[in-house]
Amino acid sequence: MTHSREDWTASAATRPLSGELRVPGDKSVSHRAIMLGALADGMSTVTGFLEGEDTLATAAAFRAMGVRIDSEGEGRRIVHGVGLHGLQAPTAPIDCGNAGTGMRLLAGLLAAQAFDSVLVGDASLSRRPMKRVTEPLAAMGASIDSESGGLPPLRIRGGQRLRGVDYTLPVASAQVKSALLLAGLYADGETVVREPHPTRDYTERMLATLGWPIDFEPGLARLGGGHRLQPAQIAVPADFSSAGFFLVAATLIPGSDLVLKAVGMNPRRTGLLSALRLMGADIDELDPRVEGGEPVADLHVRHARLHGVAVPEHLVPDMIDEFPVLFVAAACAIGTTTVSGAAELRVKESDRIAAMATGLRACGIRVDETPDGAVIHGGTVQGGEIDSHGDHRIAMSFVVAGQVARDEIRVLDCANVATSFPGFRALAGAAGMALRSAG
Ligand code: S3P
Repeated sequence: MTHSREDWTASAATRPLSGELRVPGDKSVSHRAIMLGALADGMSTVTGFLEGEDTLATAAAFRAMGVRIDSEGEGRRIVHGVGLHGLQAPTAPIDCGNAGTGMRLLAGLLAAQAFDSVLVGDASLSRRPMKRVTEPLAAMGASIDSESGGLPPLRIRGGQRLRGVDYTLPVASAQVKSALLLAGLYADGETVVREPHPTRDYTERMLATLGWPIDFEPGLARLGGGHRLQPAQIAVPADFSSAGFFLVAATLIPGSDLVLKAVGMNPRRTGLLSALRLMGADIDELDPRVEGGEPVADLHVRHARLHGVAVPEHLVPDMIDEFPVLFVAAACAIGTTTVSGAAELRVKESDRIAAMATGLRACGIRVDETPDGAVIHGGTVQGGEIDSHGDHRIAMSFVVAGQVARDEIRVLDCANVATSFPGFRALAGAAGMALRSAG
């Protein structure tokens, strides 16, 4: 989606963060709910769906392939599944917008269809590596052309007969794993995906919920082709990644006492909680429960003084989307924080190591970049002007930094916050953060 330019100014919070709030639905689960609901035999109901641009692009993709998706108010969708073989050829390229998840998962699914298709994305997505999905899919018999260097657009030739593979991912990636599992639904024989570190298992869980026989455990997923998906009621939990901005903001702003309701607590997503606790954060999990097959809890966060740590590398995949805001926590901590084993951050919506290091330096924080991480020297965040590079999580992270900065932080290029967190400004403001459009 193309946007008009949006720049924001974040300034010191005028009061502690307080009250209760619920952040929008989980992005990963929302993508998968549309995709798998569309492939089921009949009508699935999705509640808590993320009304963000990334997931709306996925819904539009399936509408373009003949799937009726009724929008019944905020976060509620009825997906009229067409069955595994019921998708129709789209008449135009499918635009995945900013969404790596949308494009990579669709690549797996479309590689198995009878028709040809083309996947395109915005400027950021058009720079992101796709060989990680196209190569293993080719080993399954898929026919996908990309631009040189393995970049989008992806041109997928339909009508290929796919066969299962036993594939060990070189880099932990739930997107690649999911692409192979979706192709595997259509493949002859068994598809096995092995991971160097366990990653989020939403595809596996949802397939099981929709009745597809699948074996999975942390680091391994195995399924065979040729079954059917049953429709289901899918309740999407609140997105832990979106909650992460509030966890850090409330930790940093003196006097804060905030409750985040019904946050998804899948252990493959909550690495930030472990890292913040190692740094001294005061966050309680209230009323842990299971909703829609996913663990959720209310998170009660109070201000605490943080100290620097070496972030354990085993936490990296479980907090892969939370490093931008972890860098902000580290900038405000006493002492140094070391991040390593996180080279994947360089190929996210932006190069998040470079974007955070440059932005924090512009705010007076010393950051030493390494190829796979950074050393962040805690200090006083001054004001400054930073470029989010159109990356939603960089933009929101610097809004958090602005709440405890000495002077205002002007955050450039924020429109893409709407990809994952529509309503961020209003919710942040209601909780007590100071944020306005830059004049
Ligand atoms: C996602 C997986 C992660 C994550 C992304 C969402 C998913 O990407 O960074 O925001 O929904 O499967 P990788 O699989 O590339 O690590």
